[in-house]
Amino acid sequence: MTLWPGAVPGLFLFNPRFPATIGPSLRLRTVRPTTTMLPTTAPARPALPLSTLGVRARQPAVAVLMRKALENPALLSLAAGFTDNTTLPGAEFVAAAQALAARRGEPEYLNYGTTQGRPQLRRLLAQRLAHWEPTLAAADYEGRCLVTTGSQQALYLAVQSLCDPGDIVLVDRPSYFAFLEILTSLGARPKSLPFDETGALRIGELHRLLDELARTGEIARVKAVYFVSYFSNPSGRSLGESDKAALGRVLAEHGVIVPVIEDAAYRELYFDTPHPARCVLTLPEWAAFPKLYALTLTKPFATGGKVGYAFCTDAVWLEQLLAIKGPQDFGSANYNQALFEEILLAGGFADHLPKVRRGYATKMRALHGALLAEGLRELGWHWEEPAGGMYLWLCAPTGFDTGMDGEFCRACVAAGVLYVPGEMCFGDRPARHFIRASCGVLSPDQLREAAKRFVQVARQFSLKK
Ligand SMILES: Cc1ncc(COP(=O)(O)O)c(C=O)c1O
Repeated sequence: MTLWPGAVPGLFLFNPRFPATIGPSLRLRTVRPTTTMLPTTAPARPALPLSTLGVRARQPAVAVLMRKALENPALLSLAAGFTDNTTLPGAEFVAAAQALAARRGEPEYLNYGTTQGRPQLRRLLAQRLAHWEPTLAAADYEGRCLVTTGSQQALYLAVQSLCDPGDIVLVDRPSYFAFLEILTSLGARPKSLPFDETGALRIGELHRLLDELARTGEIARVKAVYFVSYFSNPSGRSLGESDKAALGRVLAEHGVIVPVIEDAAYRELYFDTPHPARCVLTLPEWAAFPKLYALTLTKPFATGGKVGYAFCTDAVWLEQLLAIKGPQDFGSANYNQALFEEILLAGGFADHLPKVRRGYATKMRALHGALLAEGLRELGWHWEEPAGGMYLWLCAPTGFDTGMDGEFCRACVAAGVLYVPGEMCFGDRPARHFIRASCGVLSPDQLREAAKRFVQVARQFSLKK
């Protein structure tokens, strides 16, 4: 008998014929370890014959950062993309759970739902879409809506449905690192679109990039375009409507009419006024493209509810997204969807959002203000104050290396402050002088303290130079 200890304590993968025939004969059982089963000497650990994906997939880089934070509770984390506990809509969820419990009839919401998601929830989400994009008719979009386990799942399904290993996805620069991780784990190659350091699209460079891809024949491997368009993770910026339109126009001019994935996870999370740009569903420059417009009820409301959604304009693509999702989960948590449905129906979502927005605006001001007050600008760092979302994108002076394995990062951890190294947010040619700082988790006082610690380290490093 050979035991391969699984990653989960108390769970052992057991196969009597392991390792010779692990493939088709792999049987998974929960076996309570007994003393008689424990080897007295450490056996050579057999290699687990993983699939290509099994070998390629890596723990998300952010898991390393989270582990660092857990190992040292005194560490103030500007790294986590977690949301703010104090503005979570606890009362709304209690009321929704009570409303469900008080319903007459069978508690169908405790049964499996459908792969596509609850029809009523999709109707409400399509209405919300029409609120943001008034030229769209909600009735046209409820059937095109796919409810997912967070929008992360929608992004994963989108890549699974479109890309084979070696395929290329054009991505914004910087981009959402967990999307880049989806690409690399599935063997696809991210290629940066030419956004400059101010967030503007360089049209001339885009033409040259597409010409170059055509010249090398790689254009045939371009399978999708992806960008985060509102109060982005990681840059905090929003894509201007003229740049969004120009991107569609130039791609079409080069015949690159591939599926576009617009990630609008933070669209609802503006501080004072919404970002005015329309989305790809509405812009005429994107009319010819298959479109997936991904949103979420997590970031602006309750991350723990883990309900995301996407609108897909292409019937074949939607069918295949569902065909991949079905065998994975038979549908995302029906009960959570029912809770969100109740909250949307009762008006709790719209009523609560201003509180969340105010909360993040206050925290962003605290972080931004403290970095200024501590003198980070004078040390040559620069950044823009975002008008929404949760992230500050700090640009270090030339010569600074903010990478995860660098001295500066280690010094910050030693000083009790953690950040996301910007290098993780580039599809290619990673720049190592950026930092993503999130104001999601920490209180305003903690943010001020984190800023103080951060600037102290930045100052020490400036003096060294
Ligand atoms: C840009 C972006 N898109 C999508 C997601 C996924 O969020 P969720 O799965 O909670 O909807 C996140 C989460 O951090 C994000 O920052």
